[in-house]
Amino acid sequence: HDTTILDYEFEAHPQPVTAGDRESLLANPGFGKIFTDHMVVIRYSADRGWHDARVQPRGPIQIDPACAVLHYAQEIFEGLKAYRLPDNGAALFRPAENARRFRESAERMAMAPLPETMFLSSIRELVRVDRDWIPEGEGASLYLRPFMFASETFLGVKPASEYLYMVIASPAGAYFKGGAPSVTLWTSEHYTRAARGGTGAAKCGGNYAASLVAQAEAIREGCDQVVFLDAVENRFVEELGGMNVFFVFEDGSIQTPPLGGTILPGITRDSLLTLARDAGIVVREAPYRMQDWQKDAESGRLREAFACGTAAVVTPIGRVRGRGFDFTIGNGGPGLLTEQLRSQLTAIQRGTAADPHGWVERL
Ligand code: PLP
Ligand code: COI
Repeated sequence: HDTTILDYEFEAHPQPVTAGDRESLLANPGFGKIFTDHMVVIRYSADRGWHDARVQPRGPIQIDPACAVLHYAQEIFEGLKAYRLPDNGAALFRPAENARRFRESAERMAMAPLPETMFLSSIRELVRVDRDWIPEGEGASLYLRPFMFASETFLGVKPASEYLYMVIASPAGAYFKGGAPSVTLWTSEHYTRAARGGTGAAKCGGNYAASLVAQAEAIREGCDQVVFLDAVENRFVEELGGMNVFFVFEDGSIQTPPLGGTILPGITRDSLLTLARDAGIVVREAPYRMQDWQKDAESGRLREAFACGTAAVVTPIGRVRGRGFDFTIGNGGPGLLTEQLRSQLTAIQRGTAADPHGWVERL
């Protein structure tokens, strides 16, 4: 017997960190490494519905070894950010879109949908309690991670009758190390992310589990992120492991792969499409072949490409590699339109530019 394991007890109520500790943690937060000192918990059971909503000190939770999520992976999550406004207030960006997507993910995974109003109030409550954890400075924010899993103790293969919804928060800086000016992609040859009729449009943990071997291959090849191709023909660009992708052409038009159930309907993607249309830019949501990406990059018809998502914001793609090919986009650095869209979006999110679509919710 290893008594050190058997004797271990969870600390139920960790002491909140002192203001001094917080300052030093916030100075260089990285991504997903440090956490605030509260969390939201809401329970669901088939007989009681949603109940016991609370904001409590952050700490470990105990689950039974037969907890359904550990076996059949009924789990979904969201990602959104709270920003510090110039007057020191706090704001969320399009949180209703995350609430809607969370409900849609739940429906796809046969989970009890959390009412969108409950999702929104849970986010607002946590940010109010932990607002001192929103870091200051360009590129910094408080990353919010709502998630939900099947918490029933049962090994039968069926939709669970109990769920736990939680929200944790993590002060975040740049997603890519050193705030990389541009990233290099690795094209996955063996692995696809999602097929038609699958779970590609749901934000479920299983999609990320399935992407990790491809992402690990990308890292082994010296690249930053994997780019997936479609599962049917292995030809069309879909998305990255955790971001959507855009292409910018020499005629000033932009293109992004269409939503069709196999990619995540990104809120950043939708916001950038809207900003681009507002600016009179010609926008296409249309399939794009990897072969054309290379041909267009080499001929100069393609000028820029970028990845986008809540964690990565807007990140230029400088180079794309795969088995037997390697090409650079533009001069390999950030492009002009990419930078323009990035700064326009982040200015709205941070309350330093007008918000014509009412996307920013002040708390
Ligand atoms: N695609 C995948 C696979 C993602 O994980 C994310 C991040 O959430 C996105 C796209 C971008 O979505 P959003 O802009 O809503 O963060
Ligand atoms: C996000 O941008 O919120 C993501 O989910 C990407 C990754 C951190 C999973």
